[in-house]
Amino acid sequence: MRPQDDWGLIVFGCFRLPIVSATAQILPMQQSLAQLVAQAHQEAQVIKTRAEMEAFKARIVGPNGSLTALMKNMATLSKEERPVMGKLINEAKKSIEDLLSALLLKIEDAEISATLGAPLDPTLPAIDSPAGQHHPLSQTRERILATFRKLGFTVAEGPEIETEWHCFDALNTPADHPARDMQDTLYLPQSFQSADAPRRGQEALVLRTHTSSVQVRTLLNRKPPLRIVAPGRCFRRDAVDATHSANFHQVEGLWIDHHVTLADLRGVLDFFVKETFGPEAEIRLRPSFFPFTEPSFEMDLRSPNLGRLSNRWLEIMGCGLVDPAVLKNCGLNPEEYSGLAFGLGLERIAMLLHGIDDIRHFYQNDLRFLRQFA
Ligand code: PHE
Repeated sequence: MRPQDDWGLIVFGCFRLPIVSATAQILPMQQSLAQLVAQAHQEAQVIKTRAEMEAFKARIVGPNGSLTALMKNMATLSKEERPVMGKLINEAKKSIEDLLSALLLKIEDAEISATLGAPLDPTLPAIDSPAGQHHPLSQTRERILATFRKLGFTVAEGPEIETEWHCFDALNTPADHPARDMQDTLYLPQSFQSADAPRRGQEALVLRTHTSSVQVRTLLNRKPPLRIVAPGRCFRRDAVDATHSANFHQVEGLWIDHHVTLADLRGVLDFFVKETFGPEAEIRLRPSFFPFTEPSFEMDLRSPNLGRLSNRWLEIMGCGLVDPAVLKNCGLNPEEYSGLAFGLGLERIAMLLHGIDDIRHFYQNDLRFLRQFA
């Protein structure tokens, strides 16, 4: 402590009090006050618990506290000195209050840290993390893709939000085709934009109703010969029941080259079915219609190893030879190139493979169901 002349400063620790009127009575009080505050700041540094803090608080501002005592001494001061000292005491009180609230914050922090335990290192490997497994649909998809890889197909992808042109027009599906009906197709609001599928002019954006849109994207980006399979999620406004879901998955196939024929289509699909359902499985092509294939077929499967569905013809995919109009829409000469295409429902294949009777099991994430495919 360094008492100085009338308007100097008493400097003590981090707390400074101006000496405003150093008369005989007031000076010792000012010095005690400065000392009290400075000492409080110093003591506070070692306080760790609420109990220590309460005792500390009582020592200063409690009924028998040091600051309380100083305030009582005010009575001994003259009328002129009292307001001066009163101001200093208020400042000291404020300083002590700030000190106490900072202390409380520090103690609360420590209490929280104590309940949280030792700090975590998120970079360490987890202890005993379960190995996990792929969803049965992912497993089925990988199995299907692996089969087509054996035939030289590679995997292609396209966006789930698609332009009406890629999903329908380019695939020879005119605006008045029932597949485009608002009943079947989910349209996005006109204000919605998608970086992956920029609109041309006023055309609508849709949630793709099939993966056939990836045929178009592939033909626009790559030069034949090409063989691709495109797995992906599709959306339709279907009422949900045991065999329908508004969101489902397909695997599309496309093979374009100089002389792709129906014999190739049969060969590819027969290979796929035997790889997937066993050597005794057979296929049948039944005439059908799709705007983007000509001729078009439904492919049926029959196998003796399908439980209660054994030895029955089961429809599992649409297929055909690529319609020349689609090739033209994508800038290819139909005189030069021909192709085959097919689209199968992933859920349907997985249900047949595993004897699952309700499509909704795939989307409910019930571990009792999922663990059966570990
Ligand atoms: N896109 C058709 C559907 O969703 C399936 C299909 C794909 C048919 C390719 C023929 C060729 O039903």
